[in-house]
Amino acid sequence: MKIWHIVGARPNFMKAAPVYRALARRRVAQIIVHTGQHYDAGMSDVFFRQLGLPRPGHNLEVGSGSHAEQTAQVMMRLEPLVAAARPDWVLVYGDVNSTVAAALVCVKLGIRTAHVEAGLRSRDRTMPEEHNRIVTDHLADLLLTPSSDGDANLRAEGIPASRIRRVGNVMIDTLARLLPAARRLRPLGRGNGCGPFVLVTLHRPSNVDDPRRLRRLLSALSRIARAAPVLFPVHPRTRAKLAAGAPRGVSLVKPLGYLEFLALQARAALVVTDSGGIQEETTYLRVPCLTVRPNTERPITVTMGSNELIGTDPRALERRAVAILREGGKSGRVPPLWDGRAGERIAEELIARMR
Ligand code: UD1
Repeated sequence: MKIWHIVGARPNFMKAAPVYRALARRRVAQIIVHTGQHYDAGMSDVFFRQLGLPRPGHNLEVGSGSHAEQTAQVMMRLEPLVAAARPDWVLVYGDVNSTVAAALVCVKLGIRTAHVEAGLRSRDRTMPEEHNRIVTDHLADLLLTPSSDGDANLRAEGIPASRIRRVGNVMIDTLARLLPAARRLRPLGRGNGCGPFVLVTLHRPSNVDDPRRLRRLLSALSRIARAAPVLFPVHPRTRAKLAAGAPRGVSLVKPLGYLEFLALQARAALVVTDSGGIQEETTYLRVPCLTVRPNTERPITVTMGSNELIGTDPRALERRAVAILREGGKSGRVPPLWDGRAGERIAEELIARMR
């Protein structure tokens, strides 16, 4: 049996690592194909190193571009490789442009394709990730879901139960494995390790592409920083939109490695984010999280976990953040099957379906 993992952007790497490890333990032949959607050392190489992923067998080096360009380049560069090698399974991860592009290529070549982290829906048709999720789920042969809401979404879209298998949250496998190592790291930067601090990430086009909106969010962060220091590792997309200078009280730093960022999440009094994965990581860590979006494709982090949807109004963000710093926020519970064994269940399922 021969398996290919297609990864492209930062949030894919931590999802592929546990599946790769579980298959390696079963001595399955496999390679990682990196599309090159994220190519900076800080967005890619450091993750391969810290997660213990092998060097990619192929790097498609697609780089940046419009959605159509990025998707088309992945398709054009991947097709001849997959057509020649004909792996038994191709695994695609999450909801980035590389995910949908790879699924299209492989399904059309008649190669069994599995989607890891299937079934999530924000129902927000303005998000590029939502297009990627819907299309990938309707193409893939096997849909591996993290939680029961994923199964329900897929069934409601008419996908037969035989294609759906709930395996739990693979990203939590990586978190649970590496948390002890992260906790051993020395605290990073000023303003943390010696008192409560707020950790921030923002990179969604809806929050950062409009300069006025980004400015208002930064002013809110600056006011939150009067209550506790704010540390903000800045994604390249956001960096490109930032005017000169950090807002008062807010430390802007480069994107961090997986371990460094995990260490900060585990120690933060509050996380403010618009990322998908960070909503889940804070739920597992039981650290209060405010998500700066009107909706989430990960509702279980709100109904069960420590996440709150604060919407898009910077004043609401400021009010709630200050209240949490004063009184504490939700600590929530860890959802079922977020137990560090999702990669094992995926490996078993792939092998069983080959028989
Ligand atoms: C992508 C994903 C998003 C995910 C995010 C995590 C899609 C549609 N979006 O968004 O779901 O949450 O990754 O990081 O796939 N850039 C660099 N260096 C890099 C990578 C990107 O400078 O290593 C720049 C690009 O040139 C571009 C911008 O950052 O200008 C955005 O990159 P892109 O991959 O298009 O989308 P993200 O916003 O990162």
